[in-house]
Amino acid sequence: MLAVGVATLDMINEVADYPPEDAEVRALAQRRARGGNATNTLAVLAQLGWRCAWSGTLADDAGGAFIAADLARRGIALAAVGRVAGAATPTSYITLSRASGSRTIVHHRDLPELDVAGFARVGLDGVDWVHFEGRNPVETAAMIGRVRRLRPRARVSVELEKPRPGGESLAALADLVLVGRDYARARGGETPTRALATLAPLAPQACWVLGWGEGGAWSRIPGAAPCHHPALPLARVVDSLGAGDCLNAGVIDGLLRGLELAPASARAVRLAGFKCTRVGLDDLVGAALATAGVLD
Ligand code: FRU
Repeated sequence: MLAVGVATLDMINEVADYPPEDAEVRALAQRRARGGNATNTLAVLAQLGWRCAWSGTLADDAGGAFIAADLARRGIALAAVGRVAGAATPTSYITLSRASGSRTIVHHRDLPELDVAGFARVGLDGVDWVHFEGRNPVETAAMIGRVRRLRPRARVSVELEKPRPGGESLAALADLVLVGRDYARARGGETPTRALATLAPLAPQACWVLGWGEGGAWSRIPGAAPCHHPALPLARVVDSLGAGDCLNAGVIDGLLRGLELAPASARAVRLAGFKCTRVGLDDLVGAALATAGVLD
């Protein structure tokens, strides 16, 4: 399993309630974590037993070292990761509300992303699945082209999380398109079914999964009507940071295990919901396996 994307340093402040603008509040707790959608997805896939590698760029600062150490501790290999001298690690300042479990992210990034030349150094032998954050459409399309040429049997997934110019062109190149609610609302429509009806024709050959937070997810196989997978009611949402990345990992895991898209998506929704009841991603899968009804 290979994933390509931006790895971040997440500075997470837990507050009692989300503060009003221009307020000064004290955080109840603070932690630092390695973040970024693709690496979060890999963190879950590694726990699910897949051999994982990440490709992207790292700054040569303390944040870059922190990210590399976190990936190493999770057994995630660095695939031809470019180190950018004199650069700063992409950083997210995250306010996590204990009252709601919501996470508000202010992200700053000024680090060149992996380009086609960088991806050309990534070995693809033995890779069964390549997952891309759907950014930088021209470069990413060429990377997908290389995967198709060198590993024609590998499956390719693309995440469309935020609307970015040209992002939808990547859907047409994927086997699985993983869409976030923000993207769907901006490009598809206010309701999940309307969004899928608008978006799916962009890539009629692909499977689509649309995450809708507490609304669960919708999946669609080519030529069929969308299927809804409702989220289980949660006693308490503690931390929703990375829940969408976890949903994506659950879908990929299910498909790699040979499940159909609908049961894979339903199981992924349960795993993402379970994640929201826990802080961070550590030991998520072990705890999920020990809890009836999540991964079975
Ligand atoms: C969560 C996350 C964070 C990161 C941000 C990047 O989905 O990947 O870990 O800071 O989103 O957009």
